Amino acid sequence: MSFSKQAYIETFGCQMNERDTEIMAQLLSQADYNITGDIDQADVVVVNTCSIRGKAEQKAMSLLGRLRLIKKKNPRLIVAVTGCVAQQEGSKIQARMGHVDLVVGPQSIYRLPELIKKVEQDGIKATAIEQAASFSIPSLLPDLAGTALPHKRFVTIMQGCNNFCTYCVVPHTRGREVSRSPEDIIDEIKHLVTHGVREITLLGQNVNSYGLDRQDGDYPDFPGLLRLVAAIPGVIRLRFTTSNPKDLSEDLMKCFAELDNLCPHFHLPVQSGADAVLKKMNRKYSIEQYLEKVEGLRKYSPDIAITTDIIVGFPGETDEEFAATMLLLEKVRYHSAYSFKYSDRPNTVSAGFENKVAEDVKAARLSRLQTRQQEITNEHYLAYVGQVVDIMVEGESRTGDGQWSGRTGTNHIVNFAGHVDIKPGQILRVKIDEACLHSLRGSLI
Ligand code: 5AD
Ligand code: SF4
Repeated sequence: MSFSKQAYIETFGCQMNERDTEIMAQLLSQADYNITGDIDQADVVVVNTCSIRGKAEQKAMSLLGRLRLIKKKNPRLIVAVTGCVAQQEGSKIQARMGHVDLVVGPQSIYRLPELIKKVEQDGIKATAIEQAASFSIPSLLPDLAGTALPHKRFVTIMQGCNNFCTYCVVPHTRGREVSRSPEDIIDEIKHLVTHGVREITLLGQNVNSYGLDRQDGDYPDFPGLLRLVAAIPGVIRLRFTTSNPKDLSEDLMKCFAELDNLCPHFHLPVQSGADAVLKKMNRKYSIEQYLEKVEGLRKYSPDIAITTDIIVGFPGETDEEFAATMLLLEKVRYHSAYSFKYSDRPNTVSAGFENKVAEDVKAARLSRLQTRQQEITNEHYLAYVGQVVDIMVEGESRTGDGQWSGRTGTNHIVNFAGHVDIKPGQILRVKIDEACLHSLRGSLI
């Protein structure tokens, strides 16, 4: 009798990393590994790291610290570090942490099973972080067995980033922009849809630049791709993330008026409300231009929910500059905002800037901003009360008391009392009765 080996994968960071984890899980399953949720049972542990902010990196590092102890008890355990910290630190990781066997960058995850085999058979440790100039994203039709949210999936359309915002590690860890062929993308989506997936989120660090890396212009641009994908039968809801405001074209705005299945939600990271800070961040737009884009989106899609990312305490940020960010919240009235204290990241330009903002000042600014944004978010929630909206069912709530939850097109969570015949991915009509702190309550009609 043969027992298959167990692999455990821990994921930090963005949807790109989540998708990479799915790919690694699939490759490991094909190599006869069983994916386990129990780290203590594992023969192989993969730590898929994120390096976007200091905190994200520390979380991965503390898990690696724990693995040192686990490996003491089980010396045959194979430890692999993947993701953005792997790319950034390379073999320095093994030099510091002798219990790490493999360091594998985002472009090399396809080699993971082969690299693990070499460790198993010959004890050969490896660092695979080369970034090819001509990298193309291998095509691998996703395996949907046993997935948590079977009705919605991410589809990578491009990798990397060419923007070099001064604070950001991504161009250093994920390399230059590479678009996937429209044929591969469409094949993958058709495959997902025939297996019951109903919501697709197109994924890339900078989706608005889709296709622009092709010198002979043989790929559609991003609005062109959206139209192709929206036309695939069975794509009930379509979303995408993430966009840089500088590349948001009028043609893309038009898609929201034109494509019924494109959800009215736009994540449009602004980062700061002060032009001088945006300039130091190398964002390549002014607040005036940003506000024009917001207005344009609302012209084509009056009910669109706009969300954003904000960094407080960028080096040199003054009280006045922070006040400009607070003012921007009033002007745009975001449905929600993800906000962060600036942290220095390796190899970034801003790490070398002077006039770093003190930790307590950053914390105070973050708290002011989050308090005000929470109020605005709640005002948006309140405006839903009494409205009738279509939601896509996510699943039964974890409380297991007949409560279900779903999402509006604008991506708000709605909880409601359901019945046994409901299935994830189904579209249901509900009336919103109540606004809660982080969700809405509704009833089926
Ligand atoms: N410090 C703080 N926040 C950062 N982000 C990116 N880099 C940094 C950094 N060095 C934030 C940005 C980005 C989001 C994903 O993370 O707001 O949009
Ligand atoms: Fe983290 Fe950015 Fe890497 Fe995603 S791309 S894992 S957010 S560092």
